[in-house]
Amino acid sequence: MIPFILIFVLLIFITLFFLNLKLYLVALTSSLLILFCLFIVLLMVIREAIRTFKGNAPYLPSPKRVINKILEEIDFKNKAVVLELGCGDARFLRAVRKKKNVIAIGYEYFIVPYITAILHNLFLKNKIKIHYQDFFKTNLAEADYIFCFLITEEMNKLEEKLKRELKSGALVISNSFTFKNWQPEKTIVINKDKKTGFNNKIYVYRQP
Ligand SMILES: C[S@@+](CC[C@H](N)C(=O)[O-])C[C@H]1O[C@@H](n2cnc3c(N)ncnc32)[C@H](O)[C@@H]1O
Repeated sequence: MIPFILIFVLLIFITLFFLNLKLYLVALTSSLLILFCLFIVLLMVIREAIRTFKGNAPYLPSPKRVINKILEEIDFKNKAVVLELGCGDARFLRAVRKKKNVIAIGYEYFIVPYITAILHNLFLKNKIKIHYQDFFKTNLAEADYIFCFLITEEMNKLEEKLKRELKSGALVISNSFTFKNWQPEKTIVINKDKKTGFNNKIYVYRQP
């Protein structure tokens, strides 16, 4: 989100700069550009709200302590393929890629976190791949590890897809939400967050 805000602030400064030089036509063009960008973002936010209303997970990043705990507990093998379904700004994938030699791939269909992820990726030494795509429209057979933080309705839909496509032995790590029929191999409980008072749980599933 922060890079997004910075781009808008930069555009506003550019407009003010042209106004100061009395280049009114250029200033008008750049302010129209700002309005156009805001309009597009607004349309995307409305689209995301409709998706949430239909039972898909809204954008809410995983807390740092959850990500750190997963990195502590899960032994990500060398050169393994790690997919994040609904990767948001891809903070989990960046953290994994920083510490482990894996192939990190994310899928995200909400433009705001997607662009944030792309901007972060520009400055990374160890790049990750991010697709602007609905993960239900991709095949998940290449995954050795899958991470997700979704909601119950979407988990139920995802369960069938994972059972069909995942290779044997692949691990699915879910922040906070469980599958309807699949029993987790392991449940990791993280102690209460001092600020929110929440106990986070991480569920780990293995494809038989
Ligand atoms: C609760 S957020 C979690 C973000 C990130 N995984 C994390 O843990 O920080 C869920 C994200 O999944 C995305 N999402 C939900 N359903 C999706 C789908 N079918 N395809 C792609 N992205 C999806 C949402 O736009 C949102 O950014």
